[in-house]
Amino acid sequence: MAVERTLSIIKPDATRRNLTGKILARFEEAGLRIVAQKRLRLTREQAERFYAVHSERSFYDDLCDYMISGPVVAQVIVGENAIALIREIMGATNPANAAPGTIRAEFGESIEANSVHGSDSPETAEFEIGFLFSGIEIIG
Ligand code: CMP
Repeated sequence: MAVERTLSIIKPDATRRNLTGKILARFEEAGLRIVAQKRLRLTREQAERFYAVHSERSFYDDLCDYMISGPVVAQVIVGENAIALIREIMGATNPANAAPGTIRAEFGESIEANSVHGSDSPETAEFEIGFLFSGIEIIG
């Protein structure tokens, strides 16, 4: 297993319900390390560029609207096998299908308002990290 870095976003449904600390605790308890973090409100253009990979999907417009509906908290996370590990801790995209005990099973409201995002590959992680953070903001 390799040490990887990945990007996580706590989504507007979770910041609205004051779940930021509870979600971050799941990552830290799994041995992952937060090496950069910011709270921000994405612009429509930023949301569109961040999720450009989904631009042809039917849910793209609604997803972008949702992601700008409130503040988000973004973090760069580092650890052994971090990309797969975070996806395991988050659970399936649709909270209805997420395994018991996962973040989305416990906190997710819908497939769109599913509380948290995590990069799905090393390539996506590097794009997403570079999109939201500059090198000097990442402190290992
Ligand atoms: P996320 O991991 O942030 O990546 C893309 C997001 O699109 C996903 O989580 C969901 O919140 C959202 N989404 C909305 N509808 C769908 C859908 N039908 N299939 C997959 N993702 C969806």
